[in-house]
Amino acid sequence: MQKLLYVQLGDQITDQIRQGLYKVGERLPSVRELSKREQVSIATVNTAYANLEQRGWIEAKPKSGYFVRRSCLETVGLPETSNLKPKPRHMSVNELAMEVQRGVSNKKGSSFCAAVPDLNFPISKIIQRTYVSQAREGITFDQGYGSPEGLYELRQQIARRALGAGIQIGVDELITTAGAQNALALALRALTKPGDIVAVESPCYFGLLQMIESFGLKSIEIPTDAKDGMSIDALKLALQQWPIKVVLSIPAYSNPLGCVMPNENKQALMQLLQQYDIAMIEDDIYGELQFEGHRPKAVKAFDEEGRVLWCSSVSKTMDPKLRVGWIAPGKYYAKILHQKYVNSISLPSLPQSVAAQVMAQGQFDRHLRQARETYRQRAQHLIDLAQMHFPSEMRASSPQGGLVVWFEMPKKIDGTQLYYQCREREVRIAPGELFSVTGLYQNCFRMSFAKPWTLESEQAVAMIGLQLKEMMIKN
Ligand SMILES: Cc1ncc(COP(=O)(O)O)c(C=O)c1O
Repeated sequence: MQKLLYVQLGDQITDQIRQGLYKVGERLPSVRELSKREQVSIATVNTAYANLEQRGWIEAKPKSGYFVRRSCLETVGLPETSNLKPKPRHMSVNELAMEVQRGVSNKKGSSFCAAVPDLNFPISKIIQRTYVSQAREGITFDQGYGSPEGLYELRQQIARRALGAGIQIGVDELITTAGAQNALALALRALTKPGDIVAVESPCYFGLLQMIESFGLKSIEIPTDAKDGMSIDALKLALQQWPIKVVLSIPAYSNPLGCVMPNENKQALMQLLQQYDIAMIEDDIYGELQFEGHRPKAVKAFDEEGRVLWCSSVSKTMDPKLRVGWIAPGKYYAKILHQKYVNSISLPSLPQSVAAQVMAQGQFDRHLRQARETYRQRAQHLIDLAQMHFPSEMRASSPQGGLVVWFEMPKKIDGTQLYYQCREREVRIAPGELFSVTGLYQNCFRMSFAKPWTLESEQAVAMIGLQLKEMMIKN
């Protein structure tokens, strides 16, 4: 039997409250608005609202309308979902990756799952102030669309900073992008067609694996050493056997291993690129986050033929919310610019202008010096805690920079199961399953050390250790 119209309407509203469309204390649409939107009579809306009020979902305020009642969510609750016991279920890697990504913004508990920088350094205040002052001055809005290449002042700052990576490029050899992810996507799109093979590191940052899959490309996972990065010998072998179209690598503080490719290997890699006449997409997003000494030279610094497309962003050094990145595409410049133009014409000027202004200030380099030392100490603390609490058979990467540590456990540990068990306790890690398309890292997981340590986060590491030890006994 069909439900009465006012009941249907009431159900619709309670669903919307559950889904967070209307939060506690928020005003609901007026009777007239709702009647018009849902094409039902005023009387039906009045009855639906009266019924919801009676059931404690909403309350009427004289002359103001209906509001979601403060207590309704606590009293009514969500029995079906809140009683569900989270347990491992088969999910595609894409779904699992999205789920892990969503956990980043979960304010409860301790999150080690994302490589997000600490946003409590003084630079964040400077970014905020610059944003406000730039917006107030409105200097970036006077010309309609920005140029497809991107804001000149930003490209100028990037070209100057590139010198630190040993890269000599002009302002007109750079294109700004919406973060490094966008730069990498533009590069892959411009260089490949569906079915082509891309050589990647193994383990590989899942954002890259997902992108490769979504473009209909195939990835070939090249063994990657926790100290020296992608194995040149293994890449050589793969190139002999497969028609690889492009090499995609994170040579400086790779995600998740935190390793750095030595300069000799970068030169050997360049020779291979020349021999096989292929391109390389270099993801240098962590290049300026070294723990000690100078930042590593980019592979691009050894590139005399424009084969390397150098990609990076301010997401790890300033704030990922700015969505400001760039690409120096070498001889593929025209293709990339066209790709960017057809995808978005140009980018919002304000964040680009903010990033340029911040880079131009001395405080940015001071911030980087502080951030590098802080991250070094936090990484060490994570490894110390892991040694204290995790099973003695564990292996851990020893990052020389970046924001993450990679843990490898005995084969009987299931990283995805660990992820769900931790999530149940409001603790987030990134399961190893995400970092390969061939299921190589089920017994691994990645943890970020970017945030300041607190008693709660230290206890969370101890809790992870407990779960691991239980799994060692049970499995
Ligand atoms: C290796 C790597 N490349 C690219 C990205 C995406 O960077 P962005 O936020 O600048 O798009 C990330 C983000 O975590 C990353 O770790």
